[in-house]
Amino acid sequence: MKGIILAGGAGTRLHPLTRGLSKQLLPVYDKPMIYYPLTTLMLAGISEFLVVTTPDDLAGFQRVLGDGSAWGISIRFAVQPRPEGIAQAFLIGEDFIGGEPCALCLGDNIFFGGGLGGLLQQAANLDKGANIFVHEVGAPERYGVLEMDAQGLPLSIVEKPKTPRSHWAVTGLYFYDSDVVEMVRDLAPSPRGELEITDVNSLYLRRGDLKVTRLGRGFGWFDTGTHDSLMEASEFVRTIQKRQGLQIACPEEIAFRQGLITRDQLAALAAAMPGNDYGAYLARLAKEAP
Ligand code: G1P
Repeated sequence: MKGIILAGGAGTRLHPLTRGLSKQLLPVYDKPMIYYPLTTLMLAGISEFLVVTTPDDLAGFQRVLGDGSAWGISIRFAVQPRPEGIAQAFLIGEDFIGGEPCALCLGDNIFFGGGLGGLLQQAANLDKGANIFVHEVGAPERYGVLEMDAQGLPLSIVEKPKTPRSHWAVTGLYFYDSDVVEMVRDLAPSPRGELEITDVNSLYLRRGDLKVTRLGRGFGWFDTGTHDSLMEASEFVRTIQKRQGLQIACPEEIAFRQGLITRDQLAALAAAMPGNDYGAYLARLAKEAP
């Protein structure tokens, strides 16, 4: 399965923070935001990525991520000239996807929780249909909202409803079979002129092909679209990391634990980052991790 990370958009809700820097390069505590969706997809077992961003921000992402080879993965880049919808990522990425199933993670979505990797790997193993992830939130009207029947089967998804039918928000993490590109090609833009990911999910739902994974209260899900939610995500990461002494969303660690890089390569990455906590963490891993 291939993986796309969408890191476009003008980030207007975060102005003036985002005037000089893409939102998905802003810090979430101690890492650039894009590390979080990248490592979420790495935990699903994906190793080939396309980062879709704006013409202005491309160089910044290339500086931060490189081609992925240092982490045993491959990262390519593509440009979305105008923000014409999340689903457009599949048209921009058509050549990269190459007829395979494909996952998409929004560049501002942060996931955390024990057992997350297993759920992600299950989703990445799909060969037919789609798998979305939902999470309960206090303010569902800000999101795509899933309505379920008494058995928990999906009934409808509505984008930013004024009167939400549930508290289950559709997160920005989607796994699709190889039909997705054709589906998006046939999609009409919404009244706001965008190719809506909610329309793609609704098509899979109507086809009877939509699997829903509920992330229960043991999981954390953050988007970082406002100054407050950005700060809250940073506080969450800082609190957990300090208490456990473990990093959240560390691509080097995941690459090492997945056998994508060797202990010597990890030690070399640590040595290239002297004099900071992150480098020290990598050095400790290279020495102690089983
Ligand atoms: C997008 C999707 C929405 C989803 C949300 C998750 O909204 O359209 O369905 O719930 O991401 O972060 P946006 O944040 O682009 O407004």
